[in-house]
Amino acid sequence: MREPFASADAEAEIVRLSKGSEKVHWNPVDSTFFDLLIPPTVYPPRHDSDLLARRISYLGAGRGRSLLEIGCGSGAISILAASFGWKVSACDINPFAVAATRGNLELNHLQGDVREGGIGPEPFPFEQQFDLIVWNLPYIPLEEAGDDFLGPMEEAALLDTDSVGLAGRLLTSIANADMLALNGRILIVGRKCARLGTFGFAHRTWDKLSFDDGEELFLTCLWKPYEGASNQYVKETGSTNSDLLQSGGIGSHLRTGKQLAGKGRRGRVWTSIEGCYAGSWIVAENSVISPGNLQLAGGLAVLESLQHESLRLKWPNDILIDNRKVCGVLAEGRSLGDGARVVLGIGINLVKGANDLDIEIASIDELFEIDAAALDITLHAEIASLLEERNDIPSLDHQGTRERVLEHIRNFGRPVTNGVIHDSFGINENGELILDDGTIITDGEDIEWA
Ligand code: BTN
Repeated sequence: MREPFASADAEAEIVRLSKGSEKVHWNPVDSTFFDLLIPPTVYPPRHDSDLLARRISYLGAGRGRSLLEIGCGSGAISILAASFGWKVSACDINPFAVAATRGNLELNHLQGDVREGGIGPEPFPFEQQFDLIVWNLPYIPLEEAGDDFLGPMEEAALLDTDSVGLAGRLLTSIANADMLALNGRILIVGRKCARLGTFGFAHRTWDKLSFDDGEELFLTCLWKPYEGASNQYVKETGSTNSDLLQSGGIGSHLRTGKQLAGKGRRGRVWTSIEGCYAGSWIVAENSVISPGNLQLAGGLAVLESLQHESLRLKWPNDILIDNRKVCGVLAEGRSLGDGARVVLGIGINLVKGANDLDIEIASIDELFEIDAAALDITLHAEIASLLEERNDIPSLDHQGTRERVLEHIRNFGRPVTNGVIHDSFGINENGELILDDGTIITDGEDIEWA
């Protein structure tokens, strides 16, 4: 594999640029057409652009809200957004794309502020906050580019040459420069991105596009987790679960450095020493979500946050290293008139010394070092990714959560009841374990595992 963007490519690029522009009559959504003029080296609207276009049209009228398009290419998405009444800002590192977007906005009698630049070492060309930030990411990693390069400008629109991945770079820049307005949303199109929660944003797949060659593209929506809800750290408290059961507000989160009267399942005591993780969330208030599904989400959020192959999930939500417990999740409810408030508490042994008296314990520092404050940012994002409900984000996918949990559980083992090993089992709509003989298991402590 040779270096992209080598000086030898410059000559070919100049030749390419002497060709004329292409005319495109773009029809992203029913009865919406735009004429676009696309100069050489500029990314034209393709299936990935259509994915973004359909979602923006689904979001409806912009009503003057601000939208930023990064990597605007021919300007197709910016033009569509402007036509829906968004106040559009757009940028691209390719000056020909900037010119094309400006020209195409004008051609379609629309307005936008288009500047040269993007996410990278140079200062970002905009400083204000945006209600919606969209980016059809260059998603092909350099290793897959082979030797057959297009011109440097086109490569830049396709290749992710960033060492941490452009999605991660984008989210870090948005967080550092505080670019997202209150209740703002981010939409990215690209391959499935791992570890999005580590950047502190909640994320959920909205749409997926599969190609004949096996390529899959995802449209992911990201947002600030449980924005507006209380998010507190206290040096010490009795139990974060008990504290939140007394308070209110969906998504409220409380973490403590020292929990003096931590509660475990079945009335047990949960002891966590300083440096370990203890935190809780109000995950439901007067809601119809079954507590079983909420419990499953707790364990899955921990696995997604810690991402280590040695961590195994035992139904419903114990997390183990070699059969030694490293994390426990406790869902507790309190009635509220007709409904209930559910608090989800998570305790993780990050360092040695914590003990849960009746079983052997493990700690995360056997695998890697992580401090509770850093973990909290990811965990908060992953809990919201699985459980937060808002009308302008993808809807909750409890079935998807159950399927992911089931995959982890199958890796862990097979349930055993009365000496019988059950090779086949599933998780029902309430998050309960359902065995091949029809038995429903509601409590993880009622079964053994083989
Ligand atoms: C278990 O027994 O496995 C569940 C342990 C849950 C412990 C956590 S720590 C934070 C939250 N507050 C509590 O009092 N308990 C939970």
